[in-house]
Amino acid sequence: MAVVFDGQKKIFTLHTKNTTWQTKVSEYGHLLHLYYGRRIKDTDLSYMARGINRGFSGCPYAAGEHREYSLDTCLQEYPAAGTGDYRVSCLHLEHENGSQGAELLYQCHRIYDKKYSLPGLPALWAGKGEAQTLEINLKDIASQVWVTLYYGVFEEMDVITRACVVENRGQVPVFLNKALSACLELPRGDLDMISFHGRHTMERMMERGSARHGRVSVDSVRGTSSHHRNPFVILCDRQAGEEHGQCWGASFVYSGNFTAQAEVDPLDQTRLCVGIHPEGFRYKLEAGESFAAPEVVFTFTHQGFGKLSDNYHRIFHKHLIRSPYKNIRRPVLLNHWEAMEFNFNEEELVSLAESGKALGMELFVMDDGWFGQRDRDTRGLGDWRVNRDKLSSGLGGFAARIHDMGLKFGIWIEPEMINEDSDLYKSHPDWALRIPGRQPNVERGQLVLDMCRREVRDYLFDSLSEILKEGQVDYVKWDMNRNLSDVWSKSLPPDRQGEALHRYVLGVYELMERFVSAYPDILWEGCSGGGGRFDAGILYYMPQIWCSDNTDAVERLRIQYGTSFCYPPSSMGSHVSVSPNHQTGRRTSLKTRGIVAMAGAFGYELDVRVMTEEEREEVRQQIQDYKKYYDLIHHGTYYRLTDVEENRDFAAWQFVSPDRKESLVSVVLLHARSNPLFWRVRARGLEEEQRYSIDGSEETYEGSALMYGGINLPVGCEDNSGVWFYLKAGPR
Ligand code: GLA
Repeated sequence: MAVVFDGQKKIFTLHTKNTTWQTKVSEYGHLLHLYYGRRIKDTDLSYMARGINRGFSGCPYAAGEHREYSLDTCLQEYPAAGTGDYRVSCLHLEHENGSQGAELLYQCHRIYDKKYSLPGLPALWAGKGEAQTLEINLKDIASQVWVTLYYGVFEEMDVITRACVVENRGQVPVFLNKALSACLELPRGDLDMISFHGRHTMERMMERGSARHGRVSVDSVRGTSSHHRNPFVILCDRQAGEEHGQCWGASFVYSGNFTAQAEVDPLDQTRLCVGIHPEGFRYKLEAGESFAAPEVVFTFTHQGFGKLSDNYHRIFHKHLIRSPYKNIRRPVLLNHWEAMEFNFNEEELVSLAESGKALGMELFVMDDGWFGQRDRDTRGLGDWRVNRDKLSSGLGGFAARIHDMGLKFGIWIEPEMINEDSDLYKSHPDWALRIPGRQPNVERGQLVLDMCRREVRDYLFDSLSEILKEGQVDYVKWDMNRNLSDVWSKSLPPDRQGEALHRYVLGVYELMERFVSAYPDILWEGCSGGGGRFDAGILYYMPQIWCSDNTDAVERLRIQYGTSFCYPPSSMGSHVSVSPNHQTGRRTSLKTRGIVAMAGAFGYELDVRVMTEEEREEVRQQIQDYKKYYDLIHHGTYYRLTDVEENRDFAAWQFVSPDRKESLVSVVLLHARSNPLFWRVRARGLEEEQRYSIDGSEETYEGSALMYGGINLPVGCEDNSGVWFYLKAGPR
C-alpha cells in the first residue's frame, strides 16, 4: 500500500519505491508536515516535530498555555495567512466582513485506488493500479470554508503530486486573495535552489544559488508561464550534482501566472510554496462554489539531478502526455518559416516541399502567413480563412498537392490572438482583452482574445475545424506570440475580474481539449514565440513544444540543457536551420546542427532548395540516422554528461536504450585548440561487464571502461564540431 493511515496516531504515510512523505494531525487538529525524503520503512516520525516557547511566535487559542506549540514555527502541509504563521503561506482567505485569515483543522480523509483528477485542469493520470490518492479535508475554524488537499502517489515512479480544492460550504460569499496548490517543508536551511530563467530566444537558462533567510521567488505575472521563468524548481543539497546528492523537484502543471516561493525561516527551516501567482488574482466563491488549484508534481531522489530528471521524463511520458504520438514515430518535419517567412505563394511552397520530399522529409508545415490578409505581423490574426492570393488552389487544393507527394501536411495557427487590422476585429472589437477607457499595450501588433468567453472559443473551434477538415491536416503548431496585459473581461462582473487571468488559462485548456479530442490523430505542437509556454500543462494536450525561436546549434546547447532538467527530449521541438544562423549570425556545420537538433523532436527549417548536392546527401544521411536512433532518443534514458554552463571545452549528452544494449553519445567540441589536450567523455548508464563496439568498430570496450575511463574525443577539430558515438553491445 502506497498510502498508510495510522488511525490511532493520526499519521498519514505516503510511500513510493524510494521515498517517503509523512504528515500528521496534531493534538489541536492542524495538519503538520513530518518528512519528505529517502524511504523510511514503516515508522512514526512524529518525534521530529518539536517546539519550545519562542518569543514573538504565538500559539493558537486552543493551545492555551501550551506555548511550545506555534503555527509560526512548526512545519505544515498547507499554511494559511492571518492566524499567527508569518512565513510564506498558501491561502489568503477574505471573509464577507472584510477580515482575512483562516485556521485549517482536520475533519476527515479518504484513501482510494486511483488518481484524482481536477475539473478543467491538466494533471497526471493513471491506469488501474498505477496510483493511489489521499484526500484530506480541512475546514476553517471560524467559517464554512473547506480545503481538500489531494495527494497522488505513483509508487513505482517515485512521484507524489499535490493539488487542492477550496470550497465555500457557507451561505455568504468569500474571496480567495491567494490560493496556492501545495507547500513543501524541509527542516533545514542549507539548501540550494535551482531555477530556469530566460528571455525570448534564450529560454530556460539554469541558475543555481542558495536559498536564504527571507524569500526567493521564481514567478511569472505575464499571463503565461513565460520565457522568463519556468514553472519548475529544485531544492537540493549544496553539494548535489548530476550523480549524487539529495534533491527535491517541483513542477507546476499550469500555463499561466505562477509563483514558486522558497523561504528560509529564522529557525533555518525551508518552506517552498507553489501555485498561481496572487498578483492580479482574486477569486470569488459564492455559497456552494469551489476553486481547484492546479497540480504540482514532486519527486525526490538522493542520486542527483540525473535521476531527478529521469523521474520527470518517465512520469511525463507515461502519465502526463496523452497523444498517440508518444508511441508512434513522429515524421521528420520541414517547416517553411525560416526559409520564407510571410513571403510565399503556392508554387514556392510546393517547390520547397518537393525538395524536402526528395531528401526524405515526411511532413511539410506551412507556418504563419497563409490566412486572412497576413502579409505581415500586424494583420490577419483572427481571420481563419485561407488567403487565396497566396494559395490559389485554396487550402484543400494545396493540401492535396502536398498529400499527393506522399507528405503529411501541417499548419501554423495562433488561436488566442487578434490583430486590429482584421475582419474579426471589425465585427467583434469587444472580443479583445482590454480595459474600458484605456488604450491597450500592443505587442507584435496584436491583442489577446478574451478566452474566458465561450462565444470566442466557439468561434475559434468552428472556424479552425473547417480548416483542419478542409486541409485534412496531420500536424498543427499552436502558437501564442505575446504576453497578457490590460486584462479585463466583458464576461465577468467587477468583483470577479480578479479571476480573468485564471479563467483565460482555463479557456485555453478547454479549447485545447476540444481540439485534441475531436482530432486525436493530429500531431500537436505547442509554441509561444519559441519556448514561452514550455510547461507540463501544455504537455497534457500536446506531446511536443517548439523549444525556442533560437535555432543556433551552439545556443541550443544551453537551451536544451536547461529544458532537459524537467522535460523529456522527445518534447523539445528542435530543427536544423540555415548557416549563418538567422538569430546569431554564427556559422556551424550541417553535422553539428544535425546532432544538436536530433536531441529532440527533429525537423528542418531552411530553404532546402538552395543546398549543394553535398549538403543534400548529408541531409539524406541525417534522416536515416534519425530514424535509426529514434527509439533511443524518444524512449531511451537521457543523461547530461557535461554541465553546459560550466564546461567551456565541450558539451555532451547521451541516450541509453532501456535494455542498455545501445547508446548514442553526442558531443559538441566548442573551441579549436593549438597543441590540443586529450579530452575524454565518460559515458553513463551502460552495463559494466558488457562489451560495446563504437560506430561498428571491430574493437570492443567494456562498459566500465567507457563509463569510468571514458571515450576519447577527437583532436584538431574546428570550433563547434559535432561528433557522436554509437555504442552497441557485442558478445561479452
Ligand atoms: C513565432 C514562432 C515561430 C514562427 C513565428 C511566425 O515566433 O515561434 O516559429 O512560427 O511565430 O510568426
